[in-house]
Amino acid sequence: QKSEPLKIMIAGAPASGKGTQCELITKKYGLVHIAAGDLLRAEVAQGTANGKKAKEYMEKGMLVPDEIVVTMVKERLLQQDAQEKGWLLDGYPRSLSQATALENLQIRPDLFILLDVPDEILVERVIGRRLDPVTGKIYHLKYSPPETQEIANRLTQRFDDTEEKVKLRLKTHHQNVEAVLSIYEEVIIKVKGDLPKETVFADIDAALSVVLESKAKPISAA
Ligand code: AP5
Repeated sequence: QKSEPLKIMIAGAPASGKGTQCELITKKYGLVHIAAGDLLRAEVAQGTANGKKAKEYMEKGMLVPDEIVVTMVKERLLQQDAQEKGWLLDGYPRSLSQATALENLQIRPDLFILLDVPDEILVERVIGRRLDPVTGKIYHLKYSPPETQEIANRLTQRFDDTEEKVKLRLKTHHQNVEAVLSIYEEVIIKVKGDLPKETVFADIDAALSVVLESKAKPISAA
């Protein structure tokens, strides 16, 4: 008998490693990765009305208004692939109102992963981050350098990856995170994120295996 697909949320400060861990999680568990920041950057790149408005907020390290984000994420979550394979929601919800909007749709995670990384480390991670526009892979000049010179030559940087902007993003994170955690208290695991990415993944992997196992068990008659 096939069990219900996994539903996972992952949160943490800017550059805490959400995107990096999502690559590893999707590779092993086949979940559909839905990143609010990636959906927004796609709107910005396409120059849509929502994209133009979103960029103003992203430039300031502020949360993009719910009227743009809530529908955007909801529509992606309800698509067939995410419903069938399960989903991994990255960087959403980021405020009490976003969490409440999901609760109202009865969309709840099996597990809420919080990556815990001290603030001092985050600035260096942001400044060294590079992205491969061809594969979408995340690199770091020091911690996760590109495999070949060809890849190195095509790497890009995000417009909000400056020291000044990451400090604003961090402030926004600290202002909102507690309210979101309060909604998911029963399903949170806090993972130490300032270790090598493989070590961080091993902790997440162990937690996901437990969740999968408990979902596979038939509900016993009490
Ligand atoms: P978003 O794109 O979500 O950015 P963020 O939360 O600031 O997170 P990042 O993508 O910067 O970092 P990450 O945690 O994924 O780290 P990564 O794996 O890349 O949001 C951007 C903006 O969009 C927001 O500011 C807001 O304006 C808007 N927005 C997004 N969601 C929204 C929402 N729900 N509501 C409203 N507005 C929203 O890693 C970072 C670097 O560190 C990389 O170089 C990586 O190689 C390296 N690294 C990763 N892990 C390790 C490790 N273990 N050791 C050493 N280095 C590591």
